[in-house]
Amino acid sequence: MKKGITILAIESSCDDTSVAVIRDGHVLSNLVSNQEVHGAYGGVVPELASRAHQANIVPVTDLALKKAGVSTGEIDAVAFTRGPGLLGSLLVGTSFAKGFALARKIPLIAVNHLQAHVLAHFILDNGEETRLPVFPFLCLLVSGGHTRIILLKDYLEMEVIGNTIDDAAGEAFDKCGKILGFPYPAGPMIDLLAQQGNKKAFTFSKPSVKGLDFSFSGLKTNFLYFLRDRLKKDKDFIEKHKADLCASLQNTITGILINKLVKASQVTGIKEIGIAGGVSANSELREAFVREGQKRGWNIFIPKVSYTTDNAAMIGITGYYKYLRGEFCGQDVVPVARF
Ligand code: KG4
Ligand code: ZN
Repeated sequence: MKKGITILAIESSCDDTSVAVIRDGHVLSNLVSNQEVHGAYGGVVPELASRAHQANIVPVTDLALKKAGVSTGEIDAVAFTRGPGLLGSLLVGTSFAKGFALARKIPLIAVNHLQAHVLAHFILDNGEETRLPVFPFLCLLVSGGHTRIILLKDYLEMEVIGNTIDDAAGEAFDKCGKILGFPYPAGPMIDLLAQQGNKKAFTFSKPSVKGLDFSFSGLKTNFLYFLRDRLKKDKDFIEKHKADLCASLQNTITGILINKLVKASQVTGIKEIGIAGGVSANSELREAFVREGQKRGWNIFIPKVSYTTDNAAMIGITGYYKYLRGEFCGQDVVPVARF
């Protein structure tokens, strides 16, 4: 008997090789292989990332299928991240997906990584009760490469109503963390240290950008100059105030994000709201979002941490909705670094 629509999903846009198996929107497996090689360089090294994807993709797929208890013959379609991302990394996932689809004679589904981050809210965990957003739905997408407010009218119908004009929020975490001497990605470390710090200890500049757009490059420069001045007077300044610096920085970034989200809800009148992307794993952002939601009567959605950072389950759920609409691509599809 046919068991439903089973999709193999591949994500390789940056430095995580991830493979998931999804059946009718339910996750059967979702494996992520992180690349630790970049930590020492202060950012992802594209050439090292694509080489690591090449080494990881076959064993991770093999494990994902085994964990799901699914054979290659049961896969109905292969969904993969077409972009945006690092071209070399995307090429590995795209080529692998093409080869798999060709060998099995099954459809190929190209997925936009950003759309997938937003649709992570619709992932069903096998057997678990899940509350799903209804449309129209607003989503703050905050990751290492993007900071956007997206209005979803339907699963595959999205409009970007706010965007960063320079750095992404995750970049602000990572670049400021680098100034503090943390390895890449610095976001999780800042989050951890901030829990022991005073968020009112220092004040950093907040941008004044019109409408629903964001800016984070000024904050990074402000943070750099602030530390340069303090270090002139006390070379141990960072060491002595690490937790307070993290807490104050995190509080500034969170404030900027929540502020614009409130504005977006007021402008659109939408109270069905979610957060997504790697930075939405941040504990203060999550708390502030819950607080604001309760205050304003929002119906809020926060994905599990494993579905906020890059993962193939989100590619699988997007692939599933594209499958239902017959949105397939040909073997001539090529990855795109930017849309
Ligand atoms: O979505 P993602 O995994 O990859 C991109 O598509 O960019 O996001 C990675 C970003 C990095 O900038 C990382 O520092 C940030 O998410 N991040 C965090 C936390 N966990 C990951 N930022 C703040 N707090 C966290 N707990
Ligand atoms: Zn991402």
